[in-house]
Amino acid sequence: MIICSCAVITDHDIERALLEILDKPNAPLPTPGVVYKHLEKKMVCCGCSALAVETIYNKMEKLAETGVVCPYACACAQGRLLKCADGTHAMRLIETALANRGSPRRSAAATSELAPA
Ligand code: FES
Repeated sequence: MIICSCAVITDHDIERALLEILDKPNAPLPTPGVVYKHLEKKMVCCGCSALAVETIYNKMEKLAETGVVCPYACACAQGRLLKCADGTHAMRLIETALANRGSPRRSAAATSELAPA
């Protein structure tokens, strides 16, 4: 699925970038800017930013569930991402995606309980 039509970035591109970013020691928080830079792309209109945040959040959950990336590292990054997304359209997209999956994290995401202090 295309996430960014300006830079032509797919959800698969984001997943691949996350694997590479989260595999590094002292990995940075994988914000859309970090992920796009890793892919050697730039945002143009920023219209995809909320969808990019939601995709990054969900891909980290998938990577943690499959054991490809350390679940603790993913949970920590997801918490920080939620804190950054609090009150934005990206947060609403994440909450909707979690609700549709019936995830037990739904209520935690809704109240940002996963975000570290
Ligand atoms: S849709 Fe991603 S920068 Fe325009």
